[in-house]
Amino acid sequence: MAMLFASAVDDAAAWSAALTALEPGLELRVWPEVGRVEDIDSALVWRPETGMLGRLPRLRVIFSLGAGVDHIFADAALPAAPVVRLVDPALTRQMVEYATLAVLHRHRRMGAYQAFQARALWRQLPPRDAGDRRVGVMGMGEIGSACAAALSGLGFAVAGWRRGAERPAGVECFRGPEGLGPFLERSDILVCLLPLTRETRGILDAALFARLPRGAYVVNAARGGHQNEADLLAAIDSGHLSGAWLDVCESEPLSPSSPLWRHPRVVVTPHIAGQVMPGTAAAGVVEELRRVRAGKAPRRAVDPRRGY
Ligand code: GLV
Repeated sequence: MAMLFASAVDDAAAWSAALTALEPGLELRVWPEVGRVEDIDSALVWRPETGMLGRLPRLRVIFSLGAGVDHIFADAALPAAPVVRLVDPALTRQMVEYATLAVLHRHRRMGAYQAFQARALWRQLPPRDAGDRRVGVMGMGEIGSACAAALSGLGFAVAGWRRGAERPAGVECFRGPEGLGPFLERSDILVCLLPLTRETRGILDAALFARLPRGAYVVNAARGGHQNEADLLAAIDSGHLSGAWLDVCESEPLSPSSPLWRHPRVVVTPHIAGQVMPGTAAAGVVEELRRVRAGKAPRRAVDPRRGY
């Protein structure tokens, strides 16, 4: 049996080398060279073409080439095979670095100091203790919990928000729609690490921003589909939000004409918060593939009803 690799952005040769180093007999076919569709029992994909997976009659498992799986569930003709997301400690570490970078940027007022430097201005602003800075992490899964723990370790007053009561969070945690208001009201810096699902699409909108305290800062390292960019810019320009740090945008790549690029209180990065590295991520894929080929259920299959 063979695995199909389909991604326009990931490096097929690097993945092939990393996978076969662990599983020498593994045959990897790179889209569009699919060969006999009956040979394919597994697929490793990023934004697969709609309908493509449904044409593989013996498919037993679908691996996401990322932590998110929304790009797979976007296909209405998805076969019944379990979808497995990528969980890689190195990817989680990158996300922790990124969330910390964005929170520290706001906390240590780097936007203001960069503007001062541009004007050769030696000027000190009053400091604020991290314990007085309330950080709110939306999405307390693998990545959100690790970010919350790291930020809490730096002394920030961290709370999380999650859908249900899946597992202990290690920090104060608000739950479900009723917990959202109180969570937002206590978040000076909001960090979005949610999965993109029917329930979370467009969640970062004018109504949500209005519930944040005046001067709050918004970080989105999840999906552009979570945010309404017109609402975000309006909330910044009105002075209600102090700024935003975005790794993702509604339409990627971000258009050169988007005002986000040039806004003095917005930082934009090109979806690089957590970039999958085959050398560290392949082990998780091989482990799950072995389970499936041995007739067992994968450990990290996503619940298709919840979408994460
Ligand atoms: C990247 O966005 C991922 O889902 O890993």
